[in-house]
Amino acid sequence: MVERKSIHGEWSSRLTFILAATGSAVGLGNIWRFPYVAGENGGGAFVLVYLLCVAVIGLPIMIAEILVGRRGRQNPMDSIRTLAEDDGRSLHWQWVGLMGVITGVLILSFYCMVGGWALAYVAYAVQGSFIDIESADAEGLLGRLFADPWALLFWHTVFMGMILTVTTRGVEGGLERAAKYLMPSLFAIMLLMVGYGMSSGDFDGALAFLFRPNFAALTLEGVLVAMGQAFFSLSLGMGAIMIYGSYLPSRTSISGSAVAIAAADTAVALIAGLAIFPVVFANGLDAGEGPGLIFVTLPLAFSKMPLGEVFATLFFVLLVFAAWTSAISLIEPAVTWLVERQGLPRVGASWVAGGVIWVLGIASVLSLNVWSDVTVRGMTIFGLLDYLTNNIMLPLGGMAVAVFAGWVLSRRTTAEELSDDSPLWYGLWRFLVRYIAPAAVGVVLLTKLLGLA
Ligand code: TRP
Repeated sequence: MVERKSIHGEWSSRLTFILAATGSAVGLGNIWRFPYVAGENGGGAFVLVYLLCVAVIGLPIMIAEILVGRRGRQNPMDSIRTLAEDDGRSLHWQWVGLMGVITGVLILSFYCMVGGWALAYVAYAVQGSFIDIESADAEGLLGRLFADPWALLFWHTVFMGMILTVTTRGVEGGLERAAKYLMPSLFAIMLLMVGYGMSSGDFDGALAFLFRPNFAALTLEGVLVAMGQAFFSLSLGMGAIMIYGSYLPSRTSISGSAVAIAAADTAVALIAGLAIFPVVFANGLDAGEGPGLIFVTLPLAFSKMPLGEVFATLFFVLLVFAAWTSAISLIEPAVTWLVERQGLPRVGASWVAGGVIWVLGIASVLSLNVWSDVTVRGMTIFGLLDYLTNNIMLPLGGMAVAVFAGWVLSRRTTAEELSDDSPLWYGLWRFLVRYIAPAAVGVVLLTKLLGLA
């Protein structure tokens, strides 16, 4: 049995790993993106397909990522290279790891800016900007933020500063403490919001919308969006979960952890829906509002509810927390890569990675205003980055990891890492990771690239 000691630290317990990985998974994807894509795609049936994708595609790939990370014990690139070497396979597989590092850097460049929007909205909420507003005011608020590159740059910079305060400290001091305190507070605030929805919002309407499948409202495009959302929400496809797995102590069940993480991520997405839709319906707002759902509609809803300012502040603080713990996992592959491949000290590596991402993020900031005319196929720089990473790079990376774990690594290797699973469960995982996951992702990619959906 190959057992490497982690060269960059270990989680102090399995629970810490689960909290940290859940912190990575739960982010803007759950709280901002899930409700709006569910809203746009008709609710119930979309949610059902999403859940299916999490279980059948996301879970096996997540197990594969954790497995490779824990056995390799290094940054994604070196972990993959080491495992390929152990099994006498082509070392070129390591480029999958490098692609993950690059994907993370690209995603974080705009994710950091969106985290900045959430920070700006905390400030608005505290200042009482949502008191007695109409829809034109809510749109104006977001419009003014987007039109002001300096304000966007300021919040983008603050958010990057928050990321660096955690990242420079490393696993034990930084990531662990962030995970331990941020995740439970996040759950608490969300439950409070659901409680508000139950007492004062249209909770029955929200339940019916999210859980009563209306298959007439589901399109092929909706199926594809649901699958992409599962990928993004579980933080799969660029080595984030792989790197967290590399900190995982050897004697812990990988599958058990993965099920817990996926369940928690899904629960938070559903809870976010249950927190947001009662407010949306009670105020006669449009569920299919789109990406502006929380930034335009919620302030409007908050302005109408008693104690709205307080709830608005709590909500956007929560969004910042969630984005923060996710952002940390997006930068971590780049940081460990700089430490282990380029020999930088952790603090230096954090500043270099953070600096590069911050500069790249300026392009997204400017694409909302000064460069809003600069488009490729109708997409701004921000839109293009989002499109390339979410629709192409993440699925490619996830598919590559599935093929690597299912076809390239020897059966003995994966069976050893998953040794505490029953033969039946192991067989099921191997079937899903060899056939179902790559095929399903392949279909998504092809339909996207060929423009069939
Ligand atoms: N899953 C996070 C969210 O829902 C975003 C995220 C963090 C992510 N790390 C990732 C997405 C790695 C893809 C890959 O907001």
